[in-house]
Amino acid sequence: MLAIITGTSSGIGKEMAYRLAQRKYDLVLIARREDRLIEMKKDLEKYKINVDVLPLDLSKISSCKNLLEFLNGKDVNLFVNNAGFGLYGETINTNTEKEFNMLDLNIKSLHFLTKEIVSIMKTGTIINISSMAAFLPTPLLSSYAASKSYVYSFSVAFGYELKQKNIPINIMTVCPGPVKTEFNAVASADPKMKGLSVSKCVDSIIKGLDRKKSLVIPGFKMKILKFLIRFTPNWLLLKASYKIQSQK
Ligand SMILES: NC(=O)c1ccc[n+]([C@@H]2O[C@H](COP(=O)([O-])OP(=O)(O)OC[C@H]3O[C@@H](n4cnc5c(N)ncnc54)[C@H](OP(=O)(O)O)[C@@H]3O)[C@@H](O)[C@H]2O)c1
Repeated sequence: MLAIITGTSSGIGKEMAYRLAQRKYDLVLIARREDRLIEMKKDLEKYKINVDVLPLDLSKISSCKNLLEFLNGKDVNLFVNNAGFGLYGETINTNTEKEFNMLDLNIKSLHFLTKEIVSIMKTGTIINISSMAAFLPTPLLSSYAASKSYVYSFSVAFGYELKQKNIPINIMTVCPGPVKTEFNAVASADPKMKGLSVSKCVDSIIKGLDRKKSLVIPGFKMKILKFLIRFTPNWLLLKASYKIQSQK
């Protein structure tokens, strides 16, 4: 079995790599920080699996094409679209170039890779990492939240189309709330709210994979929040999320 994980050099992607290695998946690790991936490869080989390292900047479509070329002729069983980052701050002041780079990675590359992988995968699962932010417009993280709404909507709808056509590929969308990774440091945020541990988040993802789920929301609190959002007026959601984000 072969699993491809994007954004494997830290956080959720790194933990996913270890869990899948324990299940004897061969792995392709992708991120920009090659030194970290090489360290991981050395360590993961203790599981007696094959590990390939691809140092790629996936915000560039040309890099996504390099990845697809590498996968040509390989039997991919699991593809995890995990690479992504956030940008914290007042929208009027955020660096637009950085924001566009985020949209290229979070939206364009995920969109492109999901479509292309469906056409080369015979059967298996594509895991697309969205966020709880997909369900609520989030002041001070406006474009990040919007990018994750795209991931959610695109992945759920595409997955439904595949089911209608009896194509044996499940797209599983994952919507985590805050998770303790390098995410906040990269987003230039310093949250007061405690996040879920990476290990607990990945427990939920693996459980979802085994149960062939199409949507996974890690953590009990986030499941409750998702339920409450349906009954809460928009003005109140905005007020609450602005207050939470202002504390960062
Ligand atoms: N942590 C949270 O609170 C949270 C909540 C909801 C959703 N998420 C989502 O979960 C996913 C994983 O994030 P994380 O929390 O694990 O954060 P993280 O620890 O910062 O990991 C992000 C990973 O993405 C990679 N990456 C970033 N830009 C890339 C690029 N241009 N090309 C290739 N790889 C790139 C990073 O590697 P390099 O820097 O080495 O390239 C890193 O391996 C993201 O999609 C994020 O939006 C996170």
